[in-house]
Amino acid sequence: MCLEDWSDEMKEAGDHKELWYNKMKDKGLGVKIAVTEDDKVVGMIQYVPLEYSTAEGDNLYFINCIWVHGYKEGVGDFQKKGIGKRLIKAAEEDVKSKGAKGLVAWGLSIPVFMRASWFKKQGYVKIDKQSISVLLWKPFSNDAIPPKMIRQKKKPKEIPGKVSVTSFINGWCPAQNIVFERARRAASEFGDKVVFNEIDTFNRETFLEWGIADALFIDEKEIRTGPPPSYEDIKKKIAKRVKKLK
Ligand SMILES: CC(C)(COP(=O)(O)OP(=O)(O)OC[C@H]1O[C@@H](n2cnc3c(N)ncnc32)[C@H](O)[C@@H]1OP(=O)(O)O)[C@@H](O)C(=O)NCCC(=O)NCCS
Repeated sequence: MCLEDWSDEMKEAGDHKELWYNKMKDKGLGVKIAVTEDDKVVGMIQYVPLEYSTAEGDNLYFINCIWVHGYKEGVGDFQKKGIGKRLIKAAEEDVKSKGAKGLVAWGLSIPVFMRASWFKKQGYVKIDKQSISVLLWKPFSNDAIPPKMIRQKKKPKEIPGKVSVTSFINGWCPAQNIVFERARRAASEFGDKVVFNEIDTFNRETFLEWGIADALFIDEKEIRTGPPPSYEDIKKKIAKRVKKLK
C-alpha cells in the first residue's frame, strides 16, 4: 500500500500489488524498509532486475520506487531527514553483492513525485529521456553498458460502433492499479456500448509488443494517470465518447 494504509483511495487498488509481489519475490525483487526506533515503517525502496522493468540493458537493477512517507496522515512526514539517502545506499550495496553492474532509476524532470534531480544528487547520471520521464544510472564497473528506455510502439485502435477503454497494467504500482480498477468499474456502467480491454504487461512479450507498462486509453486517446484521475472523471470522459456514438 505504499506506506499509505491510512488512505481510503488505496482500498480501491485491488489485489494487483499482492499478485505482483507473489510473482516477483522469487525473481530478484529487492525491498528495503526504513523503520524508526519505535518500529514505525516510514520509507521504502523497491528494485528489480532490469528485465522486469521499463528499460533494457545487461546485468543491471532498476528502482521501481523509492518513497519516504511525506504526508501528515498515518506515520507523518519523514522526508528530508536523510532516510532516502540511506535507503538508496542500502539498495546499491545489495545489488552490488548480487554481482550487478549498476543501478538504474527513473525520475521526473519536473518537481513532483520521484524527481530526477534527487537521483542526480545521489550520484546518478542521466542516460535517456522521453518527455518528462528521465532514466538515470550509477554504473559500478567500467564495462557496464548504458541502459535505454523502452519506447511506446503502438496504441489501441478504435472499435467501430463502440467506445473502447484500454487499461495497461503491470501490477507494481498501487496508484496505477487504482486507475485500472476505476476504469474497469466505470466502463461496466455503459453496458455493451463500451468494451473494456485489460492488457497485462507483466507478461514481457506483451509489454515489448506495446512498449507501454501502465496507461489508460479511451479509444485512441491516452488519459493522464499520474496522479490517478477520480472515478467520476474517468466516467465523464467515457460518457463523452459514448454520446458521440451513432
Ligand atoms: C525522493 C525521496 C525518496 C528522498 O528521500 P528523503 O529522505 O526526503 O531525502 P534525504 O533527506 O535522504 O535527502 C538526501 C539529499 O537530497 C536532498 N534533497 C531532498 N529532497 C530533494 C529534492 N526534491 N530535489 C533535490 N534534492 C533533494 C537533501 O537536501 C539531501 O541533501 P544532502 O545530501 O546535501 O544533505 C523523498 O523525498 C520522497 O519520497 N519523495 C517522493 C517520491 C515519490 O513520489 N515516490 C513515489 C513515486 S511513484
